[in-house]
Amino acid sequence: MDLLELLKQRKSVRDFLDRPVERKKIMTCLEAARVAPSACNSQPWKFIVVDDRELKDKLCAGAFNGIYSINSFCKTAPVLVVVVSEKSRFLARIGGLFRGTKYYLIDIGIACEHFVLQAEDLGLGTCWIGWFNEGAVKSLLGVPESKKIDILIALGYYDKDKIRSTHDREPLENITTFNSY
Ligand SMILES: Cc1cc2nc3c(=O)[nH]c(=O)nc-3n(C[C@H](O)[C@H](O)[C@H](O)COP(=O)(O)O)c2cc1C
Repeated sequence: MDLLELLKQRKSVRDFLDRPVERKKIMTCLEAARVAPSACNSQPWKFIVVDDRELKDKLCAGAFNGIYSINSFCKTAPVLVVVVSEKSRFLARIGGLFRGTKYYLIDIGIACEHFVLQAEDLGLGTCWIGWFNEGAVKSLLGVPESKKIDILIALGYYDKDKIRSTHDREPLENITTFNSY
């Protein structure tokens, strides 16, 4: 598919079909994430794929309770990908401190978007999830307390007819200038 067409087709999916996702497709999405660029080529990420139904249900119960329950729609997703933010290379960390820029978050963002776009191309829907109980996720999956989990990705098949056709975005003229602010 034409890239721009794919970018426009992708929308957040919050209602997934009860259909398992093939491991091969998940691996292709992970491969897309793996080749993402990152500051100083730090690759500051680890992906924990939760596709075991029982474990995923437990994960959802812990991650999306109380103030996080707005995201309990994730229960319908057959797969949850937990993205662990790993330490960047020394140079990226020092550069980031100097610049006041969290390069690792930019890196994670790119890798996750690679994942999400590859998924869309394979006919799979996704939703980025930034609002969840991080402690519950860590303890259930044995992620050390010292690590940071900034984002999860819900993944699964979806009904394309139920997805709105347009993006709600600012027009280009509101966000773009040439040659000065
Ligand atoms: C970093 C990040 C965190 C997000 N967290 C959530 C979330 O916790 N729950 C949710 O339903 N959507 C979440 N989203 C999805 C956004 O709400 C969504 O991308 C945005 O409204 C634009 O809609 P679209 O993805 O359909 O184009 C998140 C997106 C990003 C990029």
